[in-house]
Amino acid sequence: MASVIALVSQKGGVGKSTIARALAREAAAGGLRVKIADLDVQQGTSIDWNRTRLDAGIEPTISVESFKTAAQALAVVDHYDLLVIDGPARTSQATLDIARAADLVVQPTGASLDDLRPAVREFHALVKAGVPADRLSFALNRIGTDAEEADARAYLADAGYGVLAGCLVERPAYRKAQNEGRAVTETRYAALNTRADALIQSLIDQIGG
Ligand SMILES: Nc1ncnc2c1ncn2[C@@H]1O[C@H](COP(=O)(O)OP(=O)(O)OP(=O)(O)O)[C@@H](O)[C@H]1O
Ligand SMILES: [Mg+2]
Repeated sequence: MASVIALVSQKGGVGKSTIARALAREAAAGGLRVKIADLDVQQGTSIDWNRTRLDAGIEPTISVESFKTAAQALAVVDHYDLLVIDGPARTSQATLDIARAADLVVQPTGASLDDLRPAVREFHALVKAGVPADRLSFALNRIGTDAEEADARAYLADAGYGVLAGCLVERPAYRKAQNEGRAVTETRYAALNTRADALIQSLIDQIGG
């Protein structure tokens, strides 16, 4: 059975596409048949990124396709071990449809209260709409210090949700890698790759579990 992992958020620019691409990259490197379903048809971030990646000849190659709805993406799921849904921001109904279709819903968030409060409200809304809370997990992004990570982790745990092990620190090198068609686990800096991989592996560990 294929696993479906969805990246969602109401807030834009929190790292949905960043984590979707790294997850797909690491799953593909591990031999899984994986597809990114880019549901942000307006931006097509992952589609554009993959064109750059293919142009540059970066291995492993990753399959990315755009879909209008979660249902359309699910129709191809049988051909894969893992379907990664890269969701659009600012769309309550699409987010709910995506969350219902997924085995695991991951919401990236920054560490400030300005980010954490609406992020928690978003998961509360999904739970209220019938999505089981144990299918919802946060991923911490743009972290500055260990203390900041610990505080954000505690806040989200208090709210009753899981938080993936590991986090993404804020680094221009992550942007640069993605500008070049690489994932955040494929930067020129081994230490940054290792840190990003810790977050991604905690996601991959949940596939088939
Ligand atoms: N940890 C990080 N350090 C530096 N830059 C980052 C980090 N995470 C994400 N970015 C950059 O921030 C921008 C937004 O990230 P991304 O596209 O992954 O967010 P998104 O949630 O998919 O956005 P949208 O809501 O527009 O789809 C991108 O340019 C990305 O390279
Ligand atoms: Mg995106």
